[in-house]
Amino acid sequence: MTAQPHLFTPLKIREVEFRNRVFVSPMCQYSSADGCPNDWHLVHLGSRAVGGAGLVIVEATAVSPEGRISPADLGMWNDAQVEAHSRVVRFIKEQGAAAGVQIAHAGRKASTAAPWDGGGHVDAAHGGWTPVGPSPVAFGPEFPAPHELTEAEIARLVDAFAVAARRAHRAGFDVVEIHAAHGYLLHEFLSPLTNQRTDQYGGSFENRLRFPLAVVSRVREAWPATQPLFVRISATDWVDGGWTVFDSVELARRLKALGVDLVDCSSAGAVAGARIPVGPGYQAPLAATVRNEAGIPTGAVGMVTSAEQAEQILATGQADAVLLARELLRNPYWPLMAARRLGATVEWPRQYLRARR
Ligand SMILES: Cc1cc2nc3c(=O)[nH]c(=O)nc-3n(C[C@H](O)[C@H](O)[C@H](O)COP(=O)(O)O)c2cc1C
Repeated sequence: MTAQPHLFTPLKIREVEFRNRVFVSPMCQYSSADGCPNDWHLVHLGSRAVGGAGLVIVEATAVSPEGRISPADLGMWNDAQVEAHSRVVRFIKEQGAAAGVQIAHAGRKASTAAPWDGGGHVDAAHGGWTPVGPSPVAFGPEFPAPHELTEAEIARLVDAFAVAARRAHRAGFDVVEIHAAHGYLLHEFLSPLTNQRTDQYGGSFENRLRFPLAVVSRVREAWPATQPLFVRISATDWVDGGWTVFDSVELARRLKALGVDLVDCSSAGAVAGARIPVGPGYQAPLAATVRNEAGIPTGAVGMVTSAEQAEQILATGQADAVLLARELLRNPYWPLMAARRLGATVEWPRQYLRARR
């Protein structure tokens, strides 16, 4: 057999083997009741597993009710949710994909409407709540100032992440990804733009890392040693005076020391108005810097749309896997088509074999 292209070379991390390096990036669907995945999630996520992805990562899934971006987000804080997730996980795995879940807390950007309903703040009268954050500073004029978390509340949130990881294990997930990007709670503590605390959780670089690293450390303990742990970061805020890629390299070194297996390198989200140089593969250089400087596997995400581009990112050592979001919404069978373009040998779902040629 001839050598497979990089994109279709299996990747083994701890005891989990991914059949290829096309990962489904987590994508909120704003479509659940009480935090439970339903038929929409089964079909949506299941289709991408049928489409040949190596790993399907379930959307930002809140570790507590107040951690949801919208009231219709998924959750991982009770047993009914575990049961509902397990149905989706079972199907994803039956298709030969690994199943991952992004555990998250939306911080000051919580309690918002779905994008198709405008994305604004949802108040208590409409099923919303007061968001929480490191400092009582609103994301924008149309959002409320968050409640400033006390040290006791921070400690409880560390527990909530660990308990959610244990629940994710019970649901059957292969991978947990901690969401520390996009201006949500953990990123809000990391970035000097959003963290104005003067206690042990704010101020210096070390202090701003304290809560996110405590979460990572407790999740790593709670999550089986045989299974991979990813962390998604915003590798830069794209704002002067904000979080930088150099900060990300140092953070990634700490994450590696704590047993994190892959850093998923996204960017931005801390504040509105950042000047982001959006274009094809624009965040891949961030993944490359983190990979090369910190010596940890990375994932590249952001406007990766063609098979050749994805292959190039891996072949040039910028990342160990690519994560696709919108392109996989347009075409859930992208991995099968990419394999064909790159001349890779991959299995098709047997029900679809007659369409293979
Ligand atoms: C509908 C939608 C929902 C998203 N939800 C999440 C999410 O839950 N967690 C996350 O980290 N990123 C989320 N993102 C960002 C994507 O995972 C991805 O990083 C981003 O879209 C860039 O990749 P792309 O150019 O391939 O779409 C979302 C993106 C879209 C389009």
